[in-house]
Amino acid sequence: MKVLVIGGGAREHALCRSLSLDPDVSALYCAPGNAGIAEVAELRPVDALDGAAVAALAVELGADLVVVGPEAPLVAGVGDAVRAAGIPVFGPSAEAARLEGSKAFAKDVMAAAGVPTARSYVCVTPEEVDEALDAFGAPYVVKDDGLAAGKGVVVTEDLAVARAHALACDRVVIEEYLDGPEVSLFAITDGVTVVPLQPAQDFKRALDGDAGPNTGGMGAYSPLPWADPKLVDEVMELVLQPTVDELRRRGTPFSGLLYAGLALTSRGTRVIEFNARFGDPETQVVLARLRTPLASVLLNAANGTLADEPPLSWRDDAAVTVVIASHNYPDTPRTGDPIEGLAEVAAEDGPDAYVLHAGTRREGDAIVSAGGRVLSVTATGSDLAQAREKAYKAVARIRLDGSQHRTDIAAKAAEGR
Ligand code: AMP
Ligand code: GLY
Repeated sequence: MKVLVIGGGAREHALCRSLSLDPDVSALYCAPGNAGIAEVAELRPVDALDGAAVAALAVELGADLVVVGPEAPLVAGVGDAVRAAGIPVFGPSAEAARLEGSKAFAKDVMAAAGVPTARSYVCVTPEEVDEALDAFGAPYVVKDDGLAAGKGVVVTEDLAVARAHALACDRVVIEEYLDGPEVSLFAITDGVTVVPLQPAQDFKRALDGDAGPNTGGMGAYSPLPWADPKLVDEVMELVLQPTVDELRRRGTPFSGLLYAGLALTSRGTRVIEFNARFGDPETQVVLARLRTPLASVLLNAANGTLADEPPLSWRDDAAVTVVIASHNYPDTPRTGDPIEGLAEVAAEDGPDAYVLHAGTRREGDAIVSAGGRVLSVTATGSDLAQAREKAYKAVARIRLDGSQHRTDIAAKAAEGR
């Protein structure tokens, strides 16, 4: 099978790494990719948001499957363009990707499907904003309706900050604050059959102890030893299957990866958000634990034949990933700094610890930073404590001027807290 992966972050590196290890995959391409993905896939330049260009590339390569990684191309209809060229696509249509592209649309689908989520108002005018903020009180949760790369959400005790964020957006969703731990659960679906993956936890805040601003994600781990073993079944029944059924009922079936971001509140499980693609950095740890070869699962989802897929098989290992971000991330990250120590990790820590590239590019013989999140250092071990130790040992070998990372990824869970 020839597979083309669209995107160029750590999630795509994790996908390409798994696909490169799959004996069914005879050729693997990634467009546009990054310096790390170049080691496992052949890179092609492309504007990932240009459906016609991606479809033409897929045809030229004779791809049997196109996997669209990030949300922006999905929302822009890149999946539709490739499907129209007759090539199977893992990833939803633009219509179905609105589940991520519009918070208001997602709320509407959840209401229709009876999926538990935070109570919310969609606001456009300053009067509506003030009324909604007043109705819920602090802490305030204010979400830009559109795509914002994980940075459109402000959670704050400060009314003035909440108000300023709301007024800076055209349309906002203001909602009830949800307490309790967060869990990310992914499911692969063909629009009918839903196959859940293993739950993971992401660390969204920039700094240790969950301080600082929201980011795209600073680290993740899986499994969640503290979670109720029935969690996956419960979320399947309450959230994933009803959402997939509702989108099919509307005539816009969702196929691809349905990501449920959940809060386990004292009053039960609630959806915080949906995404229409693999999460980053959770994918890095979930795929590290998946034993089943990936390509046929993704192809069956793309072809509507997921019911034929045997149950997924998982390693008993635990996995931890730690994101190394640029100086000044998430504000205005500095890029172009040389990265050193990658060869040492490969030589000293492999194969249980490895570096997935997020924002990197090659400049002559050097690999330099090219984005806010630069690397996702991933390790597996017999338990979280061991996986954590291996991941941080590898992190310590990486040298990137001004870089930052959290030191407490999976720390509480590893200690049984
Ligand atoms: P989202 O992009 O919707 O996932 O929001 C980003 C982060 O903001 C989430 O991972 C939560 O940490 C936080 N957040 C979003 N919605 C809520 C909520 N209703 N209550 C508490 N925290 C929230
Ligand atoms: N880990 C959060 C996201 O992928 O949106």
